Amino acid sequence: MNNDLQERENWTSKLGFILAAAGSAVGLGNIWRFPYVTGENGGAAFLLIYLIAIILIGYPVMVAEMSLGRKTEKNPVGAFKNLAPDTPWWLVGALGVFTGFVILSYYSVIAGWSMAYIVQAANGFTSEMDFAGLFGGHISSVGEPLLWHATFMGITIGIISAGVVKGIQKAVKILMPILFILLVALVFRSVSLEGAGEGLAFYLAPDFSQLTWYSLNEAIAQAFFTLSLGMGAMITYGSYLSKDDNISDSAGYVLGLDTLIAVLSGFAIFPAVFALGLSPDAGPGLTFITLPAVFAEMPLGTLFGFLFFVLLTIAAITSAISLLEVVVAYMVDEHEWERKKAAQVVGIVIFLVGIPPLLGYSALSDFQFLGMDILDTYDWFANAIFLPLGGLLTAIFAGYVWGARNTADEANKAEGVLSVGNLFGVLIKYVVPVAIGTIMVVGIWQTLAG
Ligand code: PHE
Repeated sequence: MNNDLQERENWTSKLGFILAAAGSAVGLGNIWRFPYVTGENGGAAFLLIYLIAIILIGYPVMVAEMSLGRKTEKNPVGAFKNLAPDTPWWLVGALGVFTGFVILSYYSVIAGWSMAYIVQAANGFTSEMDFAGLFGGHISSVGEPLLWHATFMGITIGIISAGVVKGIQKAVKILMPILFILLVALVFRSVSLEGAGEGLAFYLAPDFSQLTWYSLNEAIAQAFFTLSLGMGAMITYGSYLSKDDNISDSAGYVLGLDTLIAVLSGFAIFPAVFALGLSPDAGPGLTFITLPAVFAEMPLGTLFGFLFFVLLTIAAITSAISLLEVVVAYMVDEHEWERKKAAQVVGIVIFLVGIPPLLGYSALSDFQFLGMDILDTYDWFANAIFLPLGGLLTAIFAGYVWGARNTADEANKAEGVLSVGNLFGVLIKYVVPVAIGTIMVVGIWQTLAG
């Protein structure tokens, strides 16, 4: 089918767009990554610099991406081509499409672990279990993780095949409220446990001696990942946005919702972890090793454990669809593929690209890159290089090539509460590029230096 003959789909309401973009933002990044990164970087002090990064760097880049998308009504490659024809700027869009591809391939593997843990939790976590062994055993097997990885990609492909309104918007309108209710229930459970106070203090009373330069790095990288920035997801979602929406406002809502969910995840996790005398700095294993130990001990733990992994899976689905949509929109717009076919073909290829990281804990465990397994290697390339580079170049493009003024005008098009102006110009032209440039250099150097 030739796409030129079709009207571009639009979100049918302001809320539809906000929920879809917030659904993209809220994901494993909020519930799995944010708590463990915060736990490793000393808690409250990290939370503070993370919030600053979200506002000073995340917000302007999000406004720029959504504006680029709505202005051009195109996928990331088409958006840059449209505003800067016959220049190499489209390569920034191409980097974004490629990044979406890479992130979804391993994101789906982790989401698969979460699905497997729904079943584990339903069978009950008990105190005599060896949770490190359980998790290690799961990820180093092949059949089960592969089945869940395939199931997760299947769900993602199904939603994207159905389209922007009937697929994405419908899914997020159902899933996002459920996610919120589940999370609030978990927070109540956690903070009402005996001994929760210590966890609250860790999370809320800053101790700046815990911070290192590397924490700053982590805060900015976390801001990009959690807000789905630097790879064109917000360009793509913005391309389905009606001209009657105010982007300065919408970006504010998305940022607010994403931050709310991340902060609530911390409230769901730290008090419970401390109440049970466990440590919050377990790294990526916090969700899959420490938390099941928490659920094993607490009253109604099986129920809450089950709900937690349902929550984590839902959050992962609403993000995964945005990752797949970036690549699908590119195939549909630029190569005139039919949406269903694009979703299926691209989805299957991404599934295959996810197999090496999945096998990195079993058949391919000998493979190491700078001391990282395959999944961590994919993740490192995405977070230390692709997303910040994409964000940096997008900021430069919006600030200097398209122009900060034009970007702001697009963002402020309709009546709204917020409106971006001179401060936005300063942030997008100077603060964002300098901050990202610095963290990229420091981050890459630190990793290479081990
Ligand atoms: N923001 C998602 C999360 O927090 C991950 C993501 C990154 C989604 C980039 C889309 C694009 O889990």
